Amino acid sequence: MAIENATRPVALPRTTDRADSLTVRDDRTGKTYIVPIEDGAIRATELNKIRTGADDPGLLTYDPGFMATAAVKSAITYIDGDAGILRYRGYPIDEVAEKLGFLEVASLLLEGDLPTDEELTVWKDEIVHHTFIHENIKKFIDGFQHDAHPMGILMSTVAALSTFYPEAKKFTEKATRRKQIVRLIAKMPTIAAFAYRHAVGLPYSYPDNDLSYTGNFLGMMWKTTELKYQPDPILERALEVLFILHADHEQNCSTSTVRVVGSSKADPYSAVAAGVGALYGPLHGGANEQVLRMLAEIGSLDRVPEHIERVKKGELRLMGFGHRVYKSYDPRAKMIKKIADQVFSVTGRNPLLDIALELEKIALEDDYFLNHKLYPNVDFYSGLIYQAMGFPLEMFPVLFAIGRTPGWLAQWEEGLLDPDQKIARPRQLYLGPGERHLSKA
Ligand code: CMC
Repeated sequence: MAIENATRPVALPRTTDRADSLTVRDDRTGKTYIVPIEDGAIRATELNKIRTGADDPGLLTYDPGFMATAAVKSAITYIDGDAGILRYRGYPIDEVAEKLGFLEVASLLLEGDLPTDEELTVWKDEIVHHTFIHENIKKFIDGFQHDAHPMGILMSTVAALSTFYPEAKKFTEKATRRKQIVRLIAKMPTIAAFAYRHAVGLPYSYPDNDLSYTGNFLGMMWKTTELKYQPDPILERALEVLFILHADHEQNCSTSTVRVVGSSKADPYSAVAAGVGALYGPLHGGANEQVLRMLAEIGSLDRVPEHIERVKKGELRLMGFGHRVYKSYDPRAKMIKKIADQVFSVTGRNPLLDIALELEKIALEDDYFLNHKLYPNVDFYSGLIYQAMGFPLEMFPVLFAIGRTPGWLAQWEEGLLDPDQKIARPRQLYLGPGERHLSKA
């Protein structure tokens, strides 16, 4: 950073274009500073060089919730929240969801480009050969209470995987890193289905590697006495599209958590387990579960206006509405509405759909929602589909976690390979008491 005094600006280094810089005047000292702008951002550490004297620790930026702080550079997912645009590695989400399979998308997110047919065959084969879990994992899933939330089971079991694969710590070696990525993507559906079967007291159903990624998951969920589970192709594809729509969403709460844990060089199982924990919250991946609870509580169309009034008074939030980044319709929610019709053609219409449609209709015409730029997000309709497919509410965030795993891993790996990565360690503004002493003798 070039530092100028108030009267005679210091010449900028030749490489710095005046148009790509920010001039800051510190009114405390009268000094002005020229801060370079790179890729639309300034480095906060440049501002930290602004000091009033030798004892001043330097200026900090205060940004709870990272409203305007880019913590990483990434080439994975692009979002323009005002325009409602979402792209994976440059491809618009609607094209990706319509034309690709989930494992193809996982490969795209991880590798940066679409796999060739041959590469895709090898990749699918690798995943299929890692769907089983160690028998001891089954034993400790057995130890959970019958009413344990499946997200709690998923989070603990993913964390426990690191004890089964201690070599995961050597993730700096590409082949080892790759193996853990494959294991995590392959085993998430198995752990998720086992968590469900434990809760309902059904014997675990082992993976069937003849089925697709989602077909196998549906089989592990629902298979009973039939020799071979045959998934309904419409539901199998609908779930695949839902997983694709959830596969990555740049630096959201859970992905940032995965990156933060990864920055301490913990193994990927520990990082992903932390991501599952972050996703569990009702403001993030737990929102789809809350939407259904809200719709059930509203119960009938005539009670929708009263609910909207309570939201406007600030008594509660309209779950499934609003987003930190999207300030127009969430493009994923648009796609999900399309899938809903296909799913309901197989399962029958979810009776709560009418309440959801009415809520959306009123909200989209209401000044409160328009002024706050609150539109349906991905979670508003996904839960209705999951419920129609037979999933209990508690499984909704688990389904989100399965879909998000490739994104977490792509972001974890990108962070690890980024020469700029440092251990995440935010600063604070200390507002507590100054030094004081105990009066006790
Ligand atoms: N219902 C009513 N008011 C809302 C809502 C909502 N769902 N969301 C935001 N607002 C209001 C909020 O009260 C505030 O109003 P004011 O400025 O008058 O005080 C304003 O909008 C800004 O809210 P915020 O909490 O500062 O916004 P944020 O960007 O920090 O929060 C959010 C984003 C997603 C946490 C929030 O919109 C929310 O709580 N939504 C409901 C939960 C939900 O559906 N979460 C799923 C998000 S999408 C899936 C995912 O990525 O996890």
